[in-house]
Amino acid sequence: MVILGIESSCDETAVSIIEIDGKKNAPRIRILANVVSSQVKLHAKFGGVVPNLAKREHQRNFVAVLLAALQEAKLGNSKSEYRNHTRILNFKFKILNSILEREPELLSRMKKIVAMPPQNIDAIAVTVGPGLAPALWVGVNFARVLSFLWAKPIIPVNHLEGHIYTNLLQHIREETRSKKQRTDRRGFVLYPLSPILFPALCLIVSGGHTELVLMRRYGEYRILGETLDDAAGEAFDKVSKMMNLGFPGGPIISRLAESGNEKRFLFPRPMLNSPNFNFSFSGLKTAVLYKLRDLKKINTKTKRDIAASFQAAVIDVLVAKTIRAARQYRAKTVMIGGGVAANKKLRHDLGLALSLQVPSAQYFVPNILLTGDNALMIALAGYFNRKKKKAWRSLQALPNLRLDRL
Ligand code: KG4
Ligand code: ZN
Repeated sequence: MVILGIESSCDETAVSIIEIDGKKNAPRIRILANVVSSQVKLHAKFGGVVPNLAKREHQRNFVAVLLAALQEAKLGNSKSEYRNHTRILNFKFKILNSILEREPELLSRMKKIVAMPPQNIDAIAVTVGPGLAPALWVGVNFARVLSFLWAKPIIPVNHLEGHIYTNLLQHIREETRSKKQRTDRRGFVLYPLSPILFPALCLIVSGGHTELVLMRRYGEYRILGETLDDAAGEAFDKVSKMMNLGFPGGPIISRLAESGNEKRFLFPRPMLNSPNFNFSFSGLKTAVLYKLRDLKKINTKTKRDIAASFQAAVIDVLVAKTIRAARQYRAKTVMIGGGVAANKKLRHDLGLALSLQVPSAQYFVPNILLTGDNALMIALAGYFNRKKKKAWRSLQALPNLRLDRL
């Protein structure tokens, strides 16, 4: 099965094409293309993602990103003889005009590919939510147009499900490119997907979400707890902003923290001992703000120590709650997902705590190159949702979509 994935929930415009081998109980994957165009530099000037700017950039980038992915994947067309009569073309333009009524910049770029023959894919998987509404709609309408033009079904995907499924790519190691890998005739590597053992627990930590999710089987999610205010990534971003360090804050803070003293400032560990699996990071953020006000001089050393002490507080809470949930629900797999899953200390500390306290659980961390938003994870989640195909006419963006209400 060949799936084309589309992602635009935040500030990454992404298209990926994957091929999954037929065997149902031991699926294997070929990554034919994985193209991401990031707008992060543009939004950095504003200190955060500006939804309408993201919408404009997605419109400008999608066609180029798609063409790059198609070229990389060497798919070929599904029909060798394919003619576009003027009458058919006019009809296609009419439908395109109606689908892309609110995305004029994408419409003008799509005109270039209207006459393109249908591509050799079986389905189009697209992020329908959660995310920024103006950004999501561009990807959704882009998918609707391709579905109409190529007569391919659409699989709606929850963005967070994508982050979870990135964990199945355990066989793709960071050093993949430098190692000699056996490739097929087309030059692609075939990887087995790592099976999840159930019950499984996933800690989702991104810029918009912090959730502990229990899975009893593929596609079934129970949210055990979530943040009551700021998401973990959002807290990193805000603390970085307070110290005028830039956006996104996660990578900046974690790099500074590497050479800082995490014991210098004792920041609160919000809800560490609360009898549930919820989180709260806004009080911690305020504690950092007050500390910055109290300190008269903030030199580089102090910045490093603040970064390290703040990061330690966030990670202590994330690890403690994940461990408690893993024990309570007897998790056989523990995974992490989302942008903050790139954090080295989180990856290490959770692994260490699990090996001591829940040694029977297998621990998956996503490939560091795939923790940020991408369309490969959406295509993969699409594979697991392949039975939930939809027609393009009925597809909508769902900005507040939850994992437990798919
Ligand atoms: O999943 P993602 O790319 O986008 C959303 O869906 O939100 O996550 C982005 C978030 C940002 O808040 C960013 O600061 C955070 O992930 N992040 C990190 C690290 N790398 C990215 N947070 C902590 N440590 C990191 N190394
Ligand atoms: Zn994300």
